[in-house]
Amino acid sequence: MNTQLLNLLLLLLFSHFSFLLVLVPVSAKVFVSIDCGSTASKLHGERSIIWDRDDRYIQTGDTHTVVVAPPNISGWDSVVMSTLRAFPTRKKNCYSIDIDNKAHDNERFLLRASFYYGNYDNKSSPPTFNLQFNGNNWRQFTRDITTTNEIVYTEVVYSLHDGNNINVCLAQTKPDNIPFISALEIRSLDSDAYNYVPSDFPLFFIGRFGYGTNTTTRYPEDSFDRIWTSIGPNLNSNSTGIADKPPEVVLRTALMRADPSEQLFEYGFSDPRIPVHYNAYFSEVIRLNSTQKRSFNLRINNKLDSIVGPVIPPYGRALEVQIFNITSSANLSYSIEFVPTDDSTLPPLINALEWYTIGDKLAKGTNPFDVEALGLLQKNFTQLQDWNGDPCLPSPYTWDWVACSSDTDSPRITALNLNGLGLVGILPDFSAMDALVTIDLHNNSLVQEIPDFLGTFSKLIVLNLADNNFSGTVPSSISNNNQLKFNALGNPNLSCPTSSICDTESRIPSPTNGSTDGIPSPSNGRRSKTYAQPLIILMIVFSGLLL
Ligand SMILES: *[C@@H]1O[C@H](CO)[C@@H](O)[C@H](O)[C@H]1NC(C)=O
Ligand SMILES: *[C@@H]1O[C@H](CO)[C@@H](O)[C@H](O)[C@H]1NC(C)=O
Ligand SMILES: *[C@@H]1O[C@H](CO)[C@@H](O)[C@H](O)[C@H]1NC(C)=O
Ligand SMILES: *[C@@H]1O[C@H](CO)[C@@H](O)[C@H](O)[C@H]1NC(C)=O
Ligand SMILES: *[C@@H]1O[C@H](CO)[C@@H](O)[C@H](O)[C@H]1NC(C)=O
Ligand SMILES: *[C@@H]1O[C@H](CO)[C@@H](O)[C@H](O)[C@H]1NC(C)=O
Ligand SMILES: *[C@@H]1O[C@H](CO)[C@@H](O)[C@H](O)[C@H]1NC(C)=O
Ligand SMILES: *[C@@H]1O[C@H](CO)[C@@H](O)[C@H](O)[C@H]1NC(C)=O
Ligand SMILES: *[C@@H]1O[C@H](CO)[C@@H](O)[C@H](O)[C@H]1NC(C)=O
Ligand SMILES: *[C@@H]1O[C@H](CO)[C@@H](O)[C@H](O)[C@H]1NC(C)=O
Ligand SMILES: *[C@@H]1O[C@H](CO)[C@@H](O)[C@H](O)[C@H]1NC(C)=O
Ligand SMILES: *[C@@H]1O[C@H](CO)[C@@H](O)[C@H](O)[C@H]1NC(C)=O
Repeated sequence: MNTQLLNLLLLLLFSHFSFLLVLVPVSAKVFVSIDCGSTASKLHGERSIIWDRDDRYIQTGDTHTVVVAPPNISGWDSVVMSTLRAFPTRKKNCYSIDIDNKAHDNERFLLRASFYYGNYDNKSSPPTFNLQFNGNNWRQFTRDITTTNEIVYTEVVYSLHDGNNINVCLAQTKPDNIPFISALEIRSLDSDAYNYVPSDFPLFFIGRFGYGTNTTTRYPEDSFDRIWTSIGPNLNSNSTGIADKPPEVVLRTALMRADPSEQLFEYGFSDPRIPVHYNAYFSEVIRLNSTQKRSFNLRINNKLDSIVGPVIPPYGRALEVQIFNITSSANLSYSIEFVPTDDSTLPPLINALEWYTIGDKLAKGTNPFDVEALGLLQKNFTQLQDWNGDPCLPSPYTWDWVACSSDTDSPRITALNLNGLGLVGILPDFSAMDALVTIDLHNNSLVQEIPDFLGTFSKLIVLNLADNNFSGTVPSSISNNNQLKFNALGNPNLSCPTSSICDTESRIPSPTNGSTDGIPSPSNGRRSKTYAQPLIILMIVFSGLLL
């Protein structure tokens, strides 16, 4: 092919990318950059990135500035990394980001969370905590990872099945270990990027290298703003983008041994139960003449039966090689050897490499009808409004005021523990939450009539409405419901046709131990006679008749 033409084409392509990146408004794609703990309204950071302060996306936690300034590392904005948000209370605290997800149903997003402890609390004690996204576990951070003076980051690539909400939660895993976060970034990817991984599985980042580059490559060179760490010496190449769109900059250079007899070798360590997935990018760096040939195989774990290749890097273009399912041997290490083929006259080379693990199947999330009904409660009661993220997942990190079924894919809400929260007003219709076993609303200021739907939940066993301001009469759905332990004492304007109706705690024997604490004894200690006894006898008579 005509080199001149090829170069021209490349140049055109490159300027086309630049045009897309710089001139098309960012609103065309999702490009959210959140500077956690910042008090500046908008920060115009390095690489033309505009950072939002984070209080639009989260209402809990405290903002801090680091004591030890972050290191000045290429690719990182030290202003962004010098503030953080920490979460001393609650099991989990979540950022909630609504994004424009109408373009593609299975559009993938890259989420990056960055952490710089910087001794913000003067305790010289970086914490251990968990990071989660949309109801899934993302990564556990231990104190040896969140060291005092290093920036750490992690990424996940996944697609939203439905909805347009991305949420990222920080969960407490150890007492006195306060989770924190310094920056959160969301980038949408092109729909064909990483699409060889099924859309219901996440890709967890391990590493990404641009060989031969002399500095970290990110946005705007990479339109997805992936971080390509620079490695090794510099050799020029001519090449262009492919499926996963590695940036031009990283493909123009390669790592190659000067001495052909010297081996090119990639190795790593991993949990043998979790296979590692590699994307390797190859592009020829020199114009070869008719006697020259560069050709090599990739030999996995030193085994003759796991060979990928031959790889012949194309000149002026790039080749992406995907190597799935590499697993470590007993010593936890794995390797990829670059072995020249017999007819090769030139040593192997590599331009860029990224590697991931593929995570467990993404959870569907808490039952959507339950989530919607919780939203109605949140709408009516301001005290509940700062709860974000999935109410139940990942298990056991539920919202503090709910309990959930043990299903880890799409659990149901089984308990509302909303006692003593100062809720004022009218209960919304949350009848969609029909897996509820316990509703505890005692000691609030709920008004008006007790809604009829409260007696219609088929699994409900505990309904505690004591010490509120309900009025009217107890609906028949409740007074006729014999499996219910119902308590409505302490509602001065509520009429109870017989006193036993408003306090059925001792009406029937407890059918189950349950996971709830049951109903606290009402202060005035009224007790009623056993009410359900006749019904039980009736049932026995009925079955006797059948025999
Ligand atoms: C960070 O490093 C860059 C290049 O190494 C330099 O230009 C810049 O002034 C440094 N910034 C600070 C705050 O030291
Ligand atoms: C940490 O120590 C520095 C210097 O002693 C002080 O200025 C700062 O207020 C302290 N910060 C906290 C959170 O205690
Ligand atoms: C990095 O490489 C580019 C071209 O590859 C060159 O123009 C630039 O001067 C280099 N920078 C440094 C600091 O070496
Ligand atoms: C392509 O390679 C040739 C020869 O190595 C070089 O002269 C030219 O500058 C390169 N073009 C680009 C766009 O890097
Ligand atoms: C091809 O290139 C190599 C290295 O530059 C050179 O030694 C060789 O003579 C060339 N062969 C031909 C046929 O041009
Ligand atoms: C990786 O391994 C798993 C389980 O052994 C298998 O189901 C899957 O198809 C493999 N993926 C590829 C791309 O080979
Ligand atoms: C791990 O074991 C393999 C063979 O089982 C060996 O080739 C490799 O060198 C070992 N790696 C380390 C780091 O010991
Ligand atoms: C009732 O709730 C309030 C908070 O709204 C709390 O301060 C009080 O201690 C609670 N009373 C009882 C008896 O639990
Ligand atoms: C609570 O919900 C009910 C029913 O949806 C509605 O009528 C009422 O106005 C709401 N109250 C408040 C305080 O939002
Ligand atoms: C009930 O309403 C009365 C008057 O509106 C108010 O004084 C009282 O504090 C309320 N009680 C509760 C438990 O909300
Ligand atoms: C109870 O009802 C009476 C009469 O309707 C009213 O005056 C009083 O404020 C109500 N008390 C509460 C606590 O709502
Ligand atoms: C109830 O609790 C008792 C003691 O804690 C336990 O032995 C029993 O198995 C529990 N029963 C059920 C049905 O969970």
